[in-house]
Amino acid sequence: MSAERVRWGILATGGIAAAMAADLVDLPDAELVAVASRSEDSAKAFAERFGIPRAYGDWASLAEDSDVDVVYVATPHSAHRAAAGLCLEAGRNVLCEKAFTLNVREAEELVALAKERGAFLMEGMWTYCNPVVRKLKALVDDGAIGEVRTVQADFGLEGPFPPSHRLRDPAQGGGALLDLGVYPVSFAQLLLGEPDGISARAVLSDENVDLQTGALLSWESGALAAVHCSIVGGTSISASVTGSKGRIDVPDGFFFADRFVLHRDGRDPEEFTAAPDHGARNSFRHEAIEVTRALRAGETESPLVPLDGTLAVMRTMDTIREQIGVRYPGEAH
Ligand SMILES: NC(=O)c1ccc[n+]([C@@H]2O[C@H](COP(=O)([O-])OP(=O)(O)OC[C@H]3O[C@@H](n4cnc5c(N)ncnc54)[C@H](OP(=O)(O)O)[C@@H]3O)[C@@H](O)[C@H]2O)c1
Repeated sequence: MSAERVRWGILATGGIAAAMAADLVDLPDAELVAVASRSEDSAKAFAERFGIPRAYGDWASLAEDSDVDVVYVATPHSAHRAAAGLCLEAGRNVLCEKAFTLNVREAEELVALAKERGAFLMEGMWTYCNPVVRKLKALVDDGAIGEVRTVQADFGLEGPFPPSHRLRDPAQGGGALLDLGVYPVSFAQLLLGEPDGISARAVLSDENVDLQTGALLSWESGALAAVHCSIVGGTSISASVTGSKGRIDVPDGFFFADRFVLHRDGRDPEEFTAAPDHGARNSFRHEAIEVTRALRAGETESPLVPLDGTLAVMRTMDTIREQIGVRYPGEAH
């Protein structure tokens, strides 16, 4: 790895690839050196837009580019297994967008491949790298609200998304759960670990992807989490964590939180806000900074976004999908 700056490659040229590229351009420790697309024209246009020196019209050329320290995979979920797998096979380190893969089997394959190659692998669960969310977790772990009893988290977008949109397309891993529900599930599991019980209901589209899904997760400790996601209704995207001695509210946009309110029994509410250098709310910098730190430390996974945690989230989403009857093309029935 370059001692000076981490050299990033970006695989795919869609919306989130552009958002990440814009943030990497602003990060002093990052150098954006290559981009790959399924189309040479798209790769060239993206490279021109962000001043990237190498543009590839295929994924393999990026995977084989040994002057790239880490590849950011930003395809739809359905292509994460193939794209990240190609990069790991070639020895590249990988940051792979959420949902990490379509299902836990694909996730396990990527984790096994990374371990075999000694490569760094991390799910792009930027919420886990957000300092405000980390502060919330530290307070909960320290018992600030006592024993956790209930977690509530929702993520719904109003849309409408036409049937041609990737969110409605089963072939691209469409539906609310993998795209949006992954955040409430990950938030609950950040605080409580993998649930012992899961009970889910959903409303499905004509294409058989979930338009909205609600799930109740339960733990033997007595804790419950109510998680909800939707692509047919804009929710408050809020979260709350209630314990035996208080409550924490993340009033809006919990997945990229910049503030929360701690209510401790017998005390005035305390508001925690992001530090002045937090960056824009929708910035990917915290995730990129964590990848940079881990690569420089020679780590193959991030303690903030551990692979076991990613696998546990994928297992939960597999169980939810089994209960609501959503199967993607190629998955066993
Ligand atoms: N962290 C976040 O906040 C966040 C936000 C939004 C999305 N995401 C995640 O990022 C991923 C991409 O989302 P997006 O909104 O950027 O999607 P998008 O705008 O549709 O872009 C995806 C890109 O992937 C490539 N692509 C499209 N269809 C493909 C296919 N069938 N197979 C392989 N590649 C394909 C295309 O790039 P080329 O034409 O260059 O190949 C396309 O531009 C998803 O997994 C999503 O969950 C994360």
